[in-house]
Amino acid sequence: MTHYAKVLGTGGYLPEEIRTNDDISKTVDTSDSWIYERTGIKSRRIAGANETASSMAEIAARQAINTAQISPDEIDLIIVATGTPDRVYPSTACLLQHRLGIKHCVAFDVQAACSGAIYGLSIADQYIKTGAVKNVLIVGSEICSRIVDWTDRGTCILFGDGAGAVLLGSSDEAGVLSTHVYSDGGYEDMLYCPNPQAATEANKHQVGTISMRGNEVFKVAVNTLERIVDETLEANNLEKTDVDWLVPHQANIRIIAATAKKLKMSMEQVIVTLEEQGNTSSASVLLALHEGITDGRIKRGQVVLLEAFGAGFTWGSALIKY
Ligand code: COA
Repeated sequence: MTHYAKVLGTGGYLPEEIRTNDDISKTVDTSDSWIYERTGIKSRRIAGANETASSMAEIAARQAINTAQISPDEIDLIIVATGTPDRVYPSTACLLQHRLGIKHCVAFDVQAACSGAIYGLSIADQYIKTGAVKNVLIVGSEICSRIVDWTDRGTCILFGDGAGAVLLGSSDEAGVLSTHVYSDGGYEDMLYCPNPQAATEANKHQVGTISMRGNEVFKVAVNTLERIVDETLEANNLEKTDVDWLVPHQANIRIIAATAKKLKMSMEQVIVTLEEQGNTSSASVLLALHEGITDGRIKRGQVVLLEAFGAGFTWGSALIKY
């Protein structure tokens, strides 16, 4: 029997504080119009002092569990994608497992920067397809605001905080159709965030904030995503017109528009959340999926293409029949 990974439920959480472009333009030399025209972002959410990746993950996860109408004890595997874990260890997935009161499942983190949720979906799909597990909780949770240099106008305008979750369950009905994930560690210098705890005598002053050559990242992202979209459709013998929804990583509206154009899709068929959320890294695809499903745009039986690109570089896609 074929085991498909079916979407049983989704969840999302955004912290309360809203930081607008106008707020940022009070501290660095930029403007609302510059940011909006170049990125499509108007505002982003900022986590409170007491919030952590695991506390935000818990809220999104509980919502996904409730919609899926299963008990937390039925979860066999928890995967948390995050670049801003509460601790180096235990993993944020273990902390989340404890918060959910689950005792005996497998829990681990995935670190693939903005592609983390797609990596999580891919791993979950392999586990479910083989029949090894039944229910998998995947969460992307990020407090990007704590690793952003708020004096660097090239990066601080882009990122935001939030958590997205999806619960996949084994089904004989089609669900995840295919996943495609890749990495190329040769691009470290274009986008990275040092770990100050790992500093040596030689680089002891390194700070833990994001460094990025935005313009170059932009070009590689557009080309790479165009390629992965083709690969995903070919692997499933599908035409562009067979895809109902594009749920992209939310980095920049111009990157998203280029991918939609490649798919010959109108922007009406794209779930866009970045205007009010910015780039929430590994949380963004799952937050967008959650929004598209809960507001009724994405309907059961429709074909949804998820994709992401991030530091590493890492990139990937997941084609899902919802
Ligand atoms: N406000 C005003 N001016 C800004 C600015 C800001 N927030 N940030 C950069 N600039 C300036 C630059 O200093 C530069 O000035 P100069 O010409 O005097 O040197 C000019 O704008 C152009 O800079 P550039 O970096 O070429 O702009 P851009 O059009 O590429 O836009 C990004 C910058 C960051 C918005 C864009 O490159 C981007 O979104 N890249 C992708 C980043 C990304 O998605 N990363 C995450 C991947 S998961």
